[in-house]
Order: sequence, then C-alpha cells, then structure tokens
Amino acid sequence: MHFLVTGHTGFKGAWLTLMLQERGHDVSGIALDPEPGSLFDRARLSGSMAHDIRCDIRDGETTRAAVRDIAPDVVIHMAAQPLVRASYLQPRWTVETNVMGTMSVLEAIAETSSVAAAVMVTTDKVYRNVDRAAGYVEDDALGGHDPYSASKAMADILVSSWTASFPGCPTAVARAGNVIGGGDVSGDRLMPDLIRAFSAGEPASIRYPDAVRPWQHVLDCLDGYLLLVDALLSGGGQGAWNFGPDPESFRTVADAADLAARAWSEGASWQADRGEHPHEAALLTLDATRARTELGWRDALDFQDAVRWTVDWARHVDAGADARAITVDQIRRHGNMRGVPDRVER
Ligand SMILES: NC(=O)c1ccc[n+]([C@@H]2O[C@H](COP(=O)([O-])OP(=O)(O)OC[C@H]3O[C@@H](n4cnc5c(N)ncnc54)[C@H](O)[C@@H]3O)[C@@H](O)[C@H]2O)c1
Repeated sequence: MHFLVTGHTGFKGAWLTLMLQERGHDVSGIALDPEPGSLFDRARLSGSMAHDIRCDIRDGETTRAAVRDIAPDVVIHMAAQPLVRASYLQPRWTVETNVMGTMSVLEAIAETSSVAAAVMVTTDKVYRNVDRAAGYVEDDALGGHDPYSASKAMADILVSSWTASFPGCPTAVARAGNVIGGGDVSGDRLMPDLIRAFSAGEPASIRYPDAVRPWQHVLDCLDGYLLLVDALLSGGGQGAWNFGPDPESFRTVADAADLAARAWSEGASWQADRGEHPHEAALLTLDATRARTELGWRDALDFQDAVRWTVDWARHVDAGADARAITVDQIRRHGNMRGVPDRVER
C-alpha cells in the first residue's frame, strides 16, 4: 500500500514513515524542511521515500497538485504547528497551518480518487478543558484556551463538517495525548528539554511540574492510527477516536522528569522554573475506551517503559549509535510486543 504522511519531516512523521516501511509499505511525504538534528535527517529517510516533497500546506493549489501527483492509497495528515507556547508567539501562522492547511489536505483528498482512507490527526487538547480528573470522551464539547488548542479544535470540527457535507473518502479524526519518544527536537516540550539539558550536564528547567498529562510512547500512538486505517479500509472507523494511555500513565510533569533523570545517569537533575508563563492546561486526561473496545488497541508500553525507551534512545544516539538502527530496533521490539511480524521483505 502507498501511504502519504503529511509532516513526515517532523518527530511523529519520521517514526511513522519508518514504521510503515518496516511493515512493507511505500511512503511519500509532504512537509516543510526538517529541523536541525531531526530524526528525519539522522535516519536518512529522504532517500528511502517514494516522494519527499517540500510543500507549505497553507497553499491549497500546490498541496492539491502534490497529492494528485503522489496518488496515495491512504493519507495520514499530521503536518501542523504543534506547540502551545509557539502558538502564543505565532497565532496567525498556527491557525493558518492547522486550519487552512487541513482544508488544503481535505480538498486534495477529495480530488484524488486513489485515496481509500484518511486519518486526520488533531490532539487531546481539542476538548474544552474543565480540569476534571475523568478522561475526556469523544463526544465531549470541544474548545481551546490557547491558540494551538483552538486551531486544532477548529480543524477537528472542519473535518467532521467536511465529511458530513462531502461524503466520499472514509475519514477519521485521531486525538492523542502527550506523545514521547526518541528524536523529538522540538523546543518547549518536556522530553527534548530534559534530554538537551542532561546531555549538556546541566540541570533542566521545567515549567508547570505539577501539570498532569497522559504520557504515551509514540509507537503506541502510531499503532493506534494504523489500526484506525485498517478499520476505515474495512468499512468502519469513521468519526473521532481518542488514543490515550491507561489512567496509571496520567502523571505529573515532575514524575516524568524524575524518572527520566534516573534513567539518564547519576547526576542528571531538573529544577522548577516558577517564572511567568502563558497559560497551559493543569490537568489533561483522555479516555480511550472506544479505541480499546472497537479497534482492540492498547498501549504496549506503560508510563515507565515509555520514558525509559525515550531516554534509552537518546543515550545511545548521544553515545554515537546510528539513529536509524536504534529507531528500527525499537519499532521491531514494539511490533513483537503487539504481535506484528518482522519486516516484510518486498
Ligand atoms: N507530539 C505530541 O505530543 C503530539 C500530541 C498530540 C498531537 N500531536 C499532533 O501530531 C502531529 C505531529 O506532531 P509532531 O510532534 O510530530 O510535530 P513536529 O513539529 O515534530 O512536526 C510537524 C511537521 O509538520 C510540518 N509542517 C509544519 N507546518 C507546515 C506547513 N505550513 N506546511 C507543511 N508542513 C508543515 C513540519 O515540516 C513537520 O514535518 C501534529 O498534528 C500535532 O498537532 C502531537
């Protein structure tokens, strides 16, 4: 099968590209240039892709032409401005990319008859946050205090309106929680911030240590997206789906930072940055019962393993190991835990 991954030069996109290739699929991508030090570059992904296209998805015409040329069987739309703090600095860029970019991809899919299924990725932050401990379910009200959350809620509503108004390609929305894993180079995210500081031998500086997040390893999240693709291709799967970890993985930022520091080595440490910061939700939880019961999805890695695999990846690469080899090794180990056969040779 031929997959188009938008945002393939980003953290989740690079993992998904390698995961799909491990399962024997062809993968194309459209995105902006990778960030310095990205997994995309470190894993030498460009050369292994059917098409590796640089395209700004805010530009509808160019995006539609790119998707038509690629003519994929399945689209997984992940390209986005995905950071809460950056959305306060660049609200227009965030809304244009996340809302109008999603519109471009929806239009492109409608014009490309080869596409048999589409998964549009939003986030757990689409829910109107009422600081409740019980996880949000798919039918809860959407909202968005910060520009990122609002832009993703808008994109989410746009997808459901589009699929109701223009039925055609089977399409689903995937909402995942705080995804961690090796090779994330974003600024202002916990694991990359910790790992950069640990690697430099400095104490990490952490905002909102008491905030609770649904931590999940990137491989579990992506595994859910691919089960959703299977469901869409088999005639089900439409609508919105949460992919969040079991409730024991709803942990504070401080818990995750403590565990990461212990996993890194003696001497790794962090301190709370109690300065003034823009608003971020204090409590974010997600109820993934629908995905568990209807797709048979569940996390293979618990909170401890998700943090340990992330730190292990970074320690090995920091020590000079090949990023592609480490990533593929983790993909295979995870696949074995989930009963996925090793690489399908073509
Ligand atoms: N990482 C998480 O914890 C998390 C959690 C929930 C949802 N998500 C969602 O998952 C998706 C991927 O997130 P990520 O963590 O890999 O982000 P990332 O920043 O690592 O990657 C973003 C990708 O989008 C591309 N992109 C950005 N603006 C673009 C534009 N205007 N035109 C074309 N491409 C553009 C970038 O080039 C990159 O390939 C996003 O939709 C994000 O909102 C991420």
